[in-house]
Amino acid sequence: MKTIDLALLGFGNVGKAFARLLTAKKQELQEQFGFNSRITAIATGSHGVCLDPNGIDEQNLLNLLASKDPLDLSVLDKMAFHGDMFDFIQQAPAHVLVETTPVNPRSGLPALDYLRAAAKRGLHLITANKGPVVYGFRELTELTKEHGRLFRFESTVMDGAPIFSLFRGPLAGAKLHGFYGILNSCTNLLLDRMRGGETLEQAIAYGASIGITETDPSNDVDGWDAAIKVAVLSNVLMGQNLTPMDVKPIGIRRITPEMISTAESQGKRWKLVCQGGWQDGHYQVSVKPEMVGPSSPLYTVDGTSSYVNFALDVLPGLGILETDPSPKTTAFGLLADLIDIVKSETR
Ligand SMILES: NC(=O)c1ccc[n+]([C@@H]2O[C@H](COP(=O)([O-])OP(=O)(O)OC[C@H]3O[C@@H](n4cnc5c(N)ncnc54)[C@H](OP(=O)(O)O)[C@@H]3O)[C@@H](O)[C@H]2O)c1
Repeated sequence: MKTIDLALLGFGNVGKAFARLLTAKKQELQEQFGFNSRITAIATGSHGVCLDPNGIDEQNLLNLLASKDPLDLSVLDKMAFHGDMFDFIQQAPAHVLVETTPVNPRSGLPALDYLRAAAKRGLHLITANKGPVVYGFRELTELTKEHGRLFRFESTVMDGAPIFSLFRGPLAGAKLHGFYGILNSCTNLLLDRMRGGETLEQAIAYGASIGITETDPSNDVDGWDAAIKVAVLSNVLMGQNLTPMDVKPIGIRRITPEMISTAESQGKRWKLVCQGGWQDGHYQVSVKPEMVGPSSPLYTVDGTSSYVNFALDVLPGLGILETDPSPKTTAFGLLADLIDIVKSETR
């Protein structure tokens, strides 16, 4: 049976969920897809690095994750590793780099440089990080192609929901005219809480208490997370070359309790609506709060759910709804990419 060795660069919420999912799905991967996967290298910013050419012992890794002690991966290192992230990328005994470091919406760095280095080394690339996709989609696609490898990033938009694989596969013969939807689940939850009577500040405090909003929520509240997703969809699916700054997002800070009440009295709801597509010969994008009525598919997209609707020449309105997102659903996007890569090697 084929063995695929994986190097994980970044081991936070998503990286850990991916390691757990690989263990949970081990037998299915062997029986249904005929391959065995091993994690042979893990790197973090401040929780150590470990490499083991025979595969990091799964049980030891799970025990380390279950432990109450601060994570120190260096106890699992079998290669006496010394060096920086670029040394890690060169030395990791792996076929695939799975990158899950934090997003940098202004440049995609340093993740973009990590992925460039891994592609030049001839590794397949999987990332959950929107930064390198928005700033390096074409370059990384070309670099991996030169080595007969693939660049995959399914979980960058709507976590594990299939978007990019749909356009490579079942929708390959369709022409995309545009899309709209709710792509930031955090602001959708905040607007729901405000509908329940909270101020934005109270809703943010609630979001922080359940781990949905960050200490600095501006990435979500000011629309930047939504803008980078609009740029990713535009660049990958519609041939554009946008940055999040080109989207000029308008977030939800100006939404007041009075505006929420006014919408309610008209039978409508405020949503942070994302759009991209061709209008009168021009490519237009926007991220802005809009009042939507019950006839819109966005009206019932509640809580942390997200939704995208694609307008295609042959399918005028194709909608995808994702409910209950979590690092586990994101990890599934990484796994789907891995299966796609393994299948590509046997096609
Ligand atoms: N959370 C989700 O459900 C979700 C959904 C979709 C997409 N994503 C994307 O997935 C990525 C990971 O998210 P996450 O929630 O797992 O983040 P996280 O919990 O903050 O984990 C990030 C990991 O990257 C490491 N790291 C940080 N800076 C680094 C650097 N310069 N070089 C090498 N490693 C570095 C961190 O090291 P330490 O361990 O030392 O901190 C940590 O292990 C992000 O790009 C995010 O936007 C996340």
